[in-house]
Amino acid sequence: MEQKLNRCLEKIRKITDFVPRVGVVLGSGLGSFAEKVQMKETIPYASLPHFPVSTVKGHTGQFVLGGIGEVPVVLMQGRVHYYEGYDMQDVVLPVRLMGRMGAKTILLTNAAGGINPAFAPGDLMLISDHISTFVPSPLRGENIESLGTRFPDMSEVYSRALSEKIRKTAKSLGVPLKEGIYLQAPGPQYETPAEIRAFRTLGADAVGMSTACEAIAARHMGLEVAGISCVSNPAAGLGSAPLSHGEVQAAAKRVEAQFSALLHAAIASL
Ligand code: HPA
Repeated sequence: MEQKLNRCLEKIRKITDFVPRVGVVLGSGLGSFAEKVQMKETIPYASLPHFPVSTVKGHTGQFVLGGIGEVPVVLMQGRVHYYEGYDMQDVVLPVRLMGRMGAKTILLTNAAGGINPAFAPGDLMLISDHISTFVPSPLRGENIESLGTRFPDMSEVYSRALSEKIRKTAKSLGVPLKEGIYLQAPGPQYETPAEIRAFRTLGADAVGMSTACEAIAARHMGLEVAGISCVSNPAAGLGSAPLSHGEVQAAAKRVEAQFSALLHAAIASL
């Protein structure tokens, strides 16, 4: 795995010497955020050796490098998911690579099902913590000592300081921001109503199929992490209609402008 990472970094360093300060993973519906990047350069995932390439409709696969305000950023336009069949180590390779490129801060975004009854589709939720118990750890297997320690602490995965900056930014923009616990489910099937009731009992406010594994890999490397979910649908059993990927994408699209504005201002303030 370390070799894969090194090969990818070597390939990137042949293309560019750009050093990002912030790495951003763009979730469903946020792909067009990349248009806000100045002086951009793109690196398709497919051009990198051993790189996991997304198979999901609506997920483009490339790194976008450039500036948001004064801040050098690398964006992941498209991510890979565990349900696509990749091992967790491969799923988190892109995030680790952003860290290896120089990013010190990782912002994770996603679309998620709302479990907290106070959440409605279109709400944005700052991730305060996560539950990753239902998916394998990306750190399973031989530890990559050059990245981090065998038994990393996870008591503050989502940086309090960074989260406070995002809260302040949202307030100044007048963007309502909820807060809660994200649970990563394996997918690709949506959950059953019984699973959602169980997750609620466990303390989850939103459920999705990504993000927690990436946050773990980033924290393992000592990177600062924050996460924002776009609530795209009531989780199974809480709404009236069956869940569909189309509904998730459409809801994410509806709040894209607001989500984009928040992300842009939050990054520019770093
Ligand atoms: N469940 C899991 N993942 C999701 C959902 C959901 O309801 N909505 C968007 N991603």
